[in-house]
Amino acid sequence: MVAENVLTAADLIWPIFVQEGPAARTPVASMPHVDRLSIPALVDAVGEAKALGIPCVALFPVTPIERKSPDGDEATNPENLICRATRAVKEAHPDIGVLCDVALDPYTTHGHDGVLREGYVANDETVEFLVRQSIVQAEAGCDVIAPSDMMDGRVGAIRDALDEAGFERVKIMSYAAKYASGFYGPFRDALGSKSSLGKTDKRSYQMDPANTDEALREVALDLAEGADMVMVKPGMPFLDVVRRVKERFGVPTFVYQVSGEYSMLHGAIERGWLDESVIPETLLGMKRAGADGILTYSALAVARLLRKG
Ligand code: PBG
Repeated sequence: MVAENVLTAADLIWPIFVQEGPAARTPVASMPHVDRLSIPALVDAVGEAKALGIPCVALFPVTPIERKSPDGDEATNPENLICRATRAVKEAHPDIGVLCDVALDPYTTHGHDGVLREGYVANDETVEFLVRQSIVQAEAGCDVIAPSDMMDGRVGAIRDALDEAGFERVKIMSYAAKYASGFYGPFRDALGSKSSLGKTDKRSYQMDPANTDEALREVALDLAEGADMVMVKPGMPFLDVVRRVKERFGVPTFVYQVSGEYSMLHGAIERGWLDESVIPETLLGMKRAGADGILTYSALAVARLLRKG
């Protein structure tokens, strides 16, 4: 009766790893209960998500190693895995949203989000790739383009290109405040980009966990360039940032409960150290911090739980 916040299936976006080949599903070793799905298995899973009231799924491709290259050209191939997966999902379930990441890391042999020149990610040249990647994904039917690369100026460039190509209704959710975090480890395992990255890190383009004023500047820039929604990532250690962004800008604000947060919780649940109820508790905490929606690998399980009541 006195609850100030409520968690519903409509708050959830479900990130899913998609794989090529005949195997329906392959487990991700560092993420309990998370599988990489083939396209037919993905289509079935999205059907269940839709039936449970989840409004949107986020697709991440496991690119076969022979399709990776230093410049990540496969990202701009209209027949790549993510485009085929998006077309299959939209054909079977036109009423659920499909969000596609924009960044080159699933496609580069070095695992960075952009093209490397003299050991650094080259911002402007990368933006040209990201624009082309956005267009092929929009052509495949994706509803929301989510640039996760953290290059400067990419939101404006993508918005202009989408509009010019007739995709003015495709929305942009920018990973505006994305921190250089240790919590992305299991995601990089799932995609096979961890070994490619080796000892290098993403600190020249992702944010310093020490900063929050900088997050507000990043969000302001992305909004000025045309972002429809913004995201803070990771979730649990950065909920103060969610609160500040929501209070300052009042725009649709999303938070990503990333792979490492998921694995941390499930690692403890598997050992019997924590009870499963901690999962919805963390998500409610994100709502309380001001998030309008949450990307979480627990989306399907939590939606099932909420349905049972
Ligand atoms: C790619 C990308 C990453 C995540 C989402 N998009 C990894 C990274 O930046 O290294 C992380 C998601 C997660 O850990 O669940 N740019």
